Amino acid sequence: MAEKKIIAVLGATGAQGGGLARAILADPNGGFAVRALTRDVNSDKAEALAQQGAEVMAVDVDNPESLKKAFAGAHGAFCVTFYWAHFSPEKELAEATSMAQAAKQAGLKHVIWSTLEDTRKWMPLDDNRMPTLMDKYKVPHFDAKGEADGVFTSLGVPVTLLLTSFYWDNFIYFGLGPKEGPDGKLVLTFPMDDRKLPGIAAEDIGKCAYGIFKRGSEFIGKKVGIAGEHLTGAEMAAALSRALGQAVRYNAVTPDQYRSFGFPGADDLGNMFQFKRDFNDYFCGARNPEFARSLNPELQTFDAWLAKSKNLIPLD
Ligand SMILES: NC(=O)c1ccc[n+]([C@@H]2O[C@H](COP(=O)([O-])OP(=O)(O)OC[C@H]3O[C@@H](n4cnc5c(N)ncnc54)[C@H](OP(=O)(O)O)[C@@H]3O)[C@@H](O)[C@H]2O)c1
Repeated sequence: MAEKKIIAVLGATGAQGGGLARAILADPNGGFAVRALTRDVNSDKAEALAQQGAEVMAVDVDNPESLKKAFAGAHGAFCVTFYWAHFSPEKELAEATSMAQAAKQAGLKHVIWSTLEDTRKWMPLDDNRMPTLMDKYKVPHFDAKGEADGVFTSLGVPVTLLLTSFYWDNFIYFGLGPKEGPDGKLVLTFPMDDRKLPGIAAEDIGKCAYGIFKRGSEFIGKKVGIAGEHLTGAEMAAALSRALGQAVRYNAVTPDQYRSFGFPGADDLGNMFQFKRDFNDYFCGARNPEFARSLNPELQTFDAWLAKSKNLIPLD
């Protein structure tokens, strides 16, 4: 039997990389093996991956030498950065640059870079429709990822640029789910008016990435986008109402109101939602659920995700 192609997976104990690691491990005859990269090879999540058959290797994305070791001898790599761990677009760009350089040096045959738009191409810094943040960004957690696209391509890395979507899991882990309003009723708050928000179950991002690796060279040199479904705030609220068995109302606030909410990253997220709202045809068009389903036939709809996850959503 031919040797399995090793995929080095960054963030393998996290949402995106974890989905990919589990997808590869669940398909033992698929021809791929997982190298799960983590800072802590002894964590419960790392040990669970090892028990399922992954090679677990230590890495720190802030140490270029450790990235080179992590990619050596692999066929491919899944590259993702961790904006919310540090809130620094400069750090994100530096980490992505180290990943691209290590991928080039290791001679990888296929890299997937988990990216988002550099929104400054649509909304230049002097455009006053939204504030400029940190002096040179419109949506800090998007812009540096999009800027890094050019680093991978200019170094000649055989890369697929993968545009991801808003995780529905944000309703569980990121504080963005329905909250009780002053009248005690649940409210889902976004500054999207009646525009559609492409969303996805985080686990499906990794499953789609596996679909891309399995399709060989077809998507090398291409930018592709995925989503599970495109839904308005009202549609999400209706689905949440059905799943939770209690009414959830969509509260469409303005981006300015959202930016002023004051939690860490509220300005960044307010700008992000405004970008998705104001360039909605582009944004949805770049993330086709049917394409995602062709990569991952198990792609979940919002209703399907809710059926599995509704009890995890904190409502207080
Ligand atoms: N939330 C959303 O809706 C959404 C949508 C699209 C894109 N994104 C982007 O997704 C990215 C995060 O991906 P994720 O959600 O998969 O992350 P995650 O679930 O937070 O997992 C991140 C994993 O990365 C590892 N890690 C963190 N710092 C590291 C470092 N310095 N070196 C090596 N490994 C490190 C951690 O593993 P160990 O502790 O085991 O090392 C952690 O398990 C962010 O950049 C965010 O902007 C988010």
